[in-house]
Amino acid sequence: MKTGQELARAQQDRWQAAYEQNPRLNGREPSAAARWTAALFGAEGIDDVLELGAGHGRDAFYLAGQGFSVHATDFSEAALDQLRLDAQREGLDDRVTAALHDVRDPLPPADATVGAVYANLLLNMAFSRAELRSLMHEIRRVLRPGGLFVYSVWSTEDPCHDNGDELGDGLLDKQGFACRFFDRELIHELADRWELRDVAPYREGQRRLWRITQAKGGTAA
Ligand SMILES: C[S@@+](CC[C@H](N)C(=O)[O-])C[C@H]1O[C@@H](n2cnc3c(N)ncnc32)[C@H](O)[C@@H]1O
Repeated sequence: MKTGQELARAQQDRWQAAYEQNPRLNGREPSAAARWTAALFGAEGIDDVLELGAGHGRDAFYLAGQGFSVHATDFSEAALDQLRLDAQREGLDDRVTAALHDVRDPLPPADATVGAVYANLLLNMAFSRAELRSLMHEIRRVLRPGGLFVYSVWSTEDPCHDNGDELGDGLLDKQGFACRFFDRELIHELADRWELRDVAPYREGQRRLWRITQAKGGTAA
């Protein structure tokens, strides 16, 4: 059985290879979560968004087009190369910046400096529960008081949840790719010390997902 570090390395290699082969792997259309999130962040008066696991930036570009300034991070250099190229081509490089970052490491921003954090289909990757809890802690640390975190993840209701080998700690192996399906219990556990605003089940194509919105307590300055 692979250790957590081996799983993490295998997953990084896999994503890097996938983006090298297909630099716009996730397509150009924004996700359903990004459309919903842009409307929410706009209504909340948020200006700046830190996107985690942004890939080649389909959602980052959508958010930038809606007027937000977006700092996109991912652990695949190939994905970020494509993102930077597209940002330049589309004249959005003042609104979309990118940095290589593995979310197992502390987030780069200083405490309480970020308006909102967004992550589409990142948290269901090969993270242990302890890593998820520490990522939640980091996100809360960098958010300003009243700041929002929106994330989407695969649901245990997804048909794919039923096949795959157990790797332990709730992770499943899907053809050599470690991932996790979320249930309400895990969502609530991870929202400890947050204000959990919304837990919405939704579908995108064949997939069944959750979209979660949570706020750091306090009042935005
Ligand atoms: C399912 S893709 C979603 C990409 C993008 N959010 C989208 O919706 O188009 C998951 C992304 O998470 C990134 N990722 C996985 N584990 C990561 C980690 N530990 N740190 C940073 N990025 C990671 C992958 O490189 C990949 O781009």
